[in-house]
Amino acid sequence: MGIPQPAFYIFKCEQSSPPGMPKPSCVTPQTQDLFQHLATKLMQEGVMGTVQPIRTSCMNRCSSGPVMLVEPGHTMYVGLTKDKIDRIVAEHIIGGKVVDEFVIDAEEWDEAISPADMRKQMGK
Ligand code: FES
Repeated sequence: MGIPQPAFYIFKCEQSSPPGMPKPSCVTPQTQDLFQHLATKLMQEGVMGTVQPIRTSCMNRCSSGPVMLVEPGHTMYVGLTKDKIDRIVAEHIIGGKVVDEFVIDAEEWDEAISPADMRKQMGK
């Protein structure tokens, strides 16, 4: 038997804006410990390893931040807090049920365009 692949990857946006920059960002002084909170929660629950938290840069949903993406499933969670992360780990990651109330609005997260279709739109 081989080394098991992770059941989930959780991509947590860790982008912060320089001071004075008007653009919103996912990491501010108030939200800078959310990644550590997520990692600690996964360890406490005994699922670290089969759930892999990943620090990412901007995922282009800054105005809904802090955000994180759960794969598989393309589930984008927005407006994160420590309490929300705890519920996402308990209900989605362990319980298997997406926490709909924390998911991004469908209008902000419509169906993906396949790379082949994107190329056609670009005239390639
Ligand atoms: S800064 Fe997090 S999505 Fe852009």
